[in-house]
Amino acid sequence: MMFKAPKLFILLSSFWVLSCSGPQFKYRTVPMAPGESFEDHVFEGQDYVVTAQGDYSTKAGVKMYELGGNAIDAAAAVSFCISVERPQSTGIGGGGFLVFKSPEMEKPVTFDFREKAPLLADSKMYLDKEGKEIKGKSLNGIFAGGVPGLVAGIVEIHKEYGSLPLATVMQPAIDLAEKGFKVYPELAFALRVREETLRKFPASVKIFFDKNKHILKEGDLLVQSDLAKTLKSIAKKGRDGFYKGWVADAIVAEERRRGGLIRYNDLSRYNMIKRKPVEGKYKDYEIYSMGPPSSGGIHVIQILNILEPLNLGHYGIQDAKTIHYTASAMQQAFADRARYLGDMDFVKVPLRELTSKEYAKKIREKIPHHRALKKDEVLPGQFDGYESTETTHFSIMDKLGNMVSSTQTINGFMGSGLVIPGTGILLNNEMDDFATKVGAKNLFGAVGGENNLVESEKRPLSSMSPTLVLKKGKPVMAVGTPSGTRILTCVAQTILNYIEHNEPLLNAVSAVRFHQQWYPDELRVGTLGLKKEEEDELRDMGYKINHKNLGCRIQAIAMEKGQFIGVSDPRGLGLAAGK
Ligand code: DON
Repeated sequence: MMFKAPKLFILLSSFWVLSCSGPQFKYRTVPMAPGESFEDHVFEGQDYVVTAQGDYSTKAGVKMYELGGNAIDAAAAVSFCISVERPQSTGIGGGGFLVFKSPEMEKPVTFDFREKAPLLADSKMYLDKEGKEIKGKSLNGIFAGGVPGLVAGIVEIHKEYGSLPLATVMQPAIDLAEKGFKVYPELAFALRVREETLRKFPASVKIFFDKNKHILKEGDLLVQSDLAKTLKSIAKKGRDGFYKGWVADAIVAEERRRGGLIRYNDLSRYNMIKRKPVEGKYKDYEIYSMGPPSSGGIHVIQILNILEPLNLGHYGIQDAKTIHYTASAMQQAFADRARYLGDMDFVKVPLRELTSKEYAKKIREKIPHHRALKKDEVLPGQFDGYESTETTHFSIMDKLGNMVSSTQTINGFMGSGLVIPGTGILLNNEMDDFATKVGAKNLFGAVGGENNLVESEKRPLSSMSPTLVLKKGKPVMAVGTPSGTRILTCVAQTILNYIEHNEPLLNAVSAVRFHQQWYPDELRVGTLGLKKEEEDELRDMGYKINHKNLGCRIQAIAMEKGQFIGVSDPRGLGLAAGK
């Protein structure tokens, strides 16, 4: 069933990845995460490939193809299964985005199943009487959770495009929740980080602690029987199995008991929205990504537009010049993000202007050639009268021409920490992605602007950037990652590494990455660092380098000479598989 990558390819690529490169190498790449094997992370196939951040979930997707299902059956199976396998990252108490292209479609479509602010929410809800932010209120417990969208999204997408019964695509998730699995290092770490918050909620303790009330550790069995019951209710009744009936009763009862804001109305009114993708062009390639309420697609395209005429491929991936221009483009993107981005159903966003080649040209011309821009020199663009108009990622591509790229999340590790009693649903803390007040920073340090203040039924601004790359309408690449604000810069870099620098996909994914988000005024570089001479040159240009992992875990698939190559980022848990 599983097609193995040819040995020579494995050897060559292992050499690249595992050798960590000294000065004799062109650039720095990360080693494989401890305990992960190269063969799991890289896969070459002819018929279809799935890459996701967990073995059970990738296998669930592959299984759907084996049963005669299509790409959306696989996507739905991965979505529900990863909800069980990575409770630290995503879940049916969360939401996400999915970008899809079938061979029949002229252009991809995007699906927005982002959480919404409850009807009773307002822009002052995270402030005290003096107007100061109440620490932790948007991050922990009942007020942190937006109205979950994942179930509505996946069930509706599957209803329209799937071919197997919903119960079939949900079975791997139900089995995994019932039988359980051993806690793996990434999950054990997240549980330790969130232990204190989880301990406050008895329904969370019931699942994530052992009988002696110790947080589960690596190797312990995690069984989620209440979650299995909720999943069965969805498998039987579709969206009503979550947004109505006993599951809705349990959610509203817990909200009322703890003084929270989500009511039946919020659940019944939750709607997945099919939206046009944001589009860009980079040389011969078409880029399609997620528009608002994500900032991701706009800024991935903006960064690529700024860099396109510079032909950075001449310098190489980690040359100081490449990093300088790319970091400057990122800095501008984050200044614009803070000023303009928000849910376009509520606020005006100058989408066309921000993704235009003219604006990119103006920005490019302001980047000095030999020094870093200081944060105060970077100001949001001016547009007159513009028109309104721990997360996880998986990618799927198949020989029929289907492409899926989806990022799903409950926001921070273990979301709000609160499990709705009797349901196994871990509530998200996506409300923290709103600006609790103008100028306030979220969990990822992103500065919040007026357009992203909380409003009843609004969707919080996201950085998630599920992206598809095509060339003259033909599939090239499906790509995305978790990691907050770093998502959009990691996606932009991976696309550049692959199509501008012409690196093989494995190298494009495993190269050390960097990130600049305007505030703080620093160039964040993966802990392995860059070559000394490049870092010295960047410091001479005025960059403050901070060696700190970016947290991205790219899941990418590309089409090379009629063959698929799938790469699950070697930095963390993941599996690329198919046929
Ligand atoms: O939507 C967003 O941008 C964030 N809620 C994503 C959070 C995330 O990626 C956490 N992951 N590690």
